[in-house]
Amino acid sequence: MKLEIKPKLIIHGGAGSSLQGKGGLIAVRNALRKIVDSVYSQLLMGINATEAVVKGCQMLEDEPRFNAGTGSVLQSDGQIRMSAAIMDGNMGRFSGVINVSRIKNPITMAQFLQTSSDRVLSDYGAAELARELQFPIYNPLTDLRLQEWIAERQDNFQKTMAGVVAEPEMAEAGSAGRGTIGVVVLDGYGKLAVGTSTGGKGFERIGRVSDSAMPAGNYANKFAAVSCTGIGEDIIDECLAAKVVVRVTDGMTLATAMEKSFIEANNNHRDFGAIAIDSNGNISYGKTCEVLLSAYHDGNNIGDTLEWHNQELTGNR
Ligand code: GLY
Repeated sequence: MKLEIKPKLIIHGGAGSSLQGKGGLIAVRNALRKIVDSVYSQLLMGINATEAVVKGCQMLEDEPRFNAGTGSVLQSDGQIRMSAAIMDGNMGRFSGVINVSRIKNPITMAQFLQTSSDRVLSDYGAAELARELQFPIYNPLTDLRLQEWIAERQDNFQKTMAGVVAEPEMAEAGSAGRGTIGVVVLDGYGKLAVGTSTGGKGFERIGRVSDSAMPAGNYANKFAAVSCTGIGEDIIDECLAAKVVVRVTDGMTLATAMEKSFIEANNNHRDFGAIAIDSNGNISYGKTCEVLLSAYHDGNNIGDTLEWHNQELTGNR
């Protein structure tokens, strides 16, 4: 099918308090840009927004640097439990899994649930579905995440969250962060979709539910699509993704909706970031924390936000 418009794409690999190690910055930049390049090429070949979201999320989940899929952080009991959601903006349909274990790509389960009558499944139900679908048993644990957890356990869980990027030099630098991955797409047919996936905050209580599989952290309709990263409790309290989408639906520009929402969030001392695209192809990103690990393709060029540290709460392409 011939493309009607230029596709747009933005992805994130989390938001954090620092990205100091030069090696770390370059490695994260290369990882994000490679994924943008690959997904954008496929959008140009005609895949639709939801397919592009799934492909992008799978690649981000498979990159052990980021806290989703392989490389997920461990919870207080030393187990990995992952959450992921997809929203197809054109259909206005949300689906997701909460606290699923022992699979490679939680986003693939969220995709399967798009056509199910029960569209959000948690732990036992998600495990049963994974067995029904014959997903191979997979252990997403990496040595680095295990080392982080052991070090934190020795310290009696003093941190409120795990590192956003699994990077030895960053762990040494004491970098803490808010890891999640997300993909927002406007495809060549003018359709929007969004996907978000996470290993959670790290060190959290068993049963804690992430924003990533809620409309607060992952939401889209025909007008706009938004994926969030950061402290899930803050994202839920602001209902950030749904709020931005509703504001755009009611007539605000995406840039204004993001700016207003991030001013409110900053006033409320929230700690997070978000990426967004509207149906006109405008790309927007925002953060109340120091760093947003995000890269985009604006139809002409690939860019990223890794060195965006200025005072502005939001940026637009
Ligand atoms: N935003 C990911 C989480 O807090 O679980």
